[in-house]
Amino acid sequence: MIYSRILLIVGGGIAAYKACELVRLIRKAGMGVRCVVTEGGREFVTPMTLAALSENRVFTSLFDLTDETEMGHIQLSREVDLVVVCPATADLLAKMAAGIADDLATTLLLATDKPVLAVPAMNVRMWEHAATRRNVERLRGDGVVVMEPDEGEMACGEFGAGRLPEPEAILAEIHRHLPSTHSEPVEGRAEGPSLAKQVSATRQFARPLQSLPGKHIIVTAGPTYEPIDPVRYLANRSSGRQGFAIAEALAALGARVTLVAGPVSLHTPPGVTRVDVETAREMAEAVDAALPADAAILVAAVADWRAEAAPAKIKKGDRGPPALALVENPDILASLAASPQRPALLVGFAAETCDVIAHARAKLARKGCDWIVANDVSGDVMGGDANTVHLVSAEGVESWEEQPKIVVARKLADRIARALMARAARP
Ligand code: CTP
Repeated sequence: MIYSRILLIVGGGIAAYKACELVRLIRKAGMGVRCVVTEGGREFVTPMTLAALSENRVFTSLFDLTDETEMGHIQLSREVDLVVVCPATADLLAKMAAGIADDLATTLLLATDKPVLAVPAMNVRMWEHAATRRNVERLRGDGVVVMEPDEGEMACGEFGAGRLPEPEAILAEIHRHLPSTHSEPVEGRAEGPSLAKQVSATRQFARPLQSLPGKHIIVTAGPTYEPIDPVRYLANRSSGRQGFAIAEALAALGARVTLVAGPVSLHTPPGVTRVDVETAREMAEAVDAALPADAAILVAAVADWRAEAAPAKIKKGDRGPPALALVENPDILASLAASPQRPALLVGFAAETCDVIAHARAKLARKGCDWIVANDVSGDVMGGDANTVHLVSAEGVESWEEQPKIVVARKLADRIARALMARAARP
């Protein structure tokens, strides 16, 4: 099985405790992780905690001769897919920018030939200091990815930019910067065959990055808002994250992606053309305008009904609560399936709270699409980072274990690429 390996360098700051959660999420996403903790980092988290969470030996010292005979620092810095520095303190960033190598962490950072992602965390004044700004700029110029810290109240009591981003956001950034390898889940422990063997297996089986060039794919995502009057609307809890992740994964495979997005506060993924809409009818029009397409992946949680919107704000009167007259919205998926411009591959999503597979099978037949990706939304899936999905098609049902939405997106994008290639190969 192929999976990605992360080298995580834990710097010395109060945010180091969040590195423990990050290790847990990386393992849960099916990746292997090796940790290196700086001397400062060891004041905040113990190597034993990181070893237990990573299920791997933790490295602390450059001069540990046993490690040098078993695995030199050069090897340690190279036999991974991505190096992550979290938290990246002002001191670590300064050393990285200056090329100082005075401990194991900084030596690895100088020796590595792999992409480096730095996740800063520090006091707001330190983050805004001209020296740190200079260092960050220099590092970015050198090709290091430096995440923007979050804003908010800090451990020191001050307020501003400098907080470590949430571990889920860091994990998403890790997925974004992993090279063309696949982070498919592993059964059991991450250890096993030697690191060198795993990496060469990754290289050997790595599929070409661009398996969808020239293909146009429409993705819908997010909720729709259906106005009741100029200030009120009907909506649902869709966050849009799964649809955005799918758009991103398809674009990463070289597809031309049109993302028709309901009202969500998410960044447009790189290389994706985004059309913002609010209502179901606007979404239907935008999908229509984006045709023709080779595939359409309809992830949006479209409101089934709209209200007959009042032209002015409905006021509270003595006649009691107003009765909302609901009208059915167009079914974008079903219309697309029946259209003469039907894309070769049509995928719908089904968010269910019970009898997930049975409902998905019925929906597949009713809507006339090729696949239904069904998920159980009775938990906190709609706002959360992870998703457990079942791929339902005429061939049967395939259940995927719980994994981050970005991993679900990559796997689905891979399936879509293979399905389109298979269709193109048909006589
Ligand atoms: N869908 C759509 N247009 C609609 C409603 C749904 O395109 N007006 C699409 C969704 O984007 C999704 C699929 O149809 O891909 C299934 O959506 P869902 O809301 O589960 O289907 P419904 O037919 O509305 O069934 P239910 O009664 O379960 O709400």
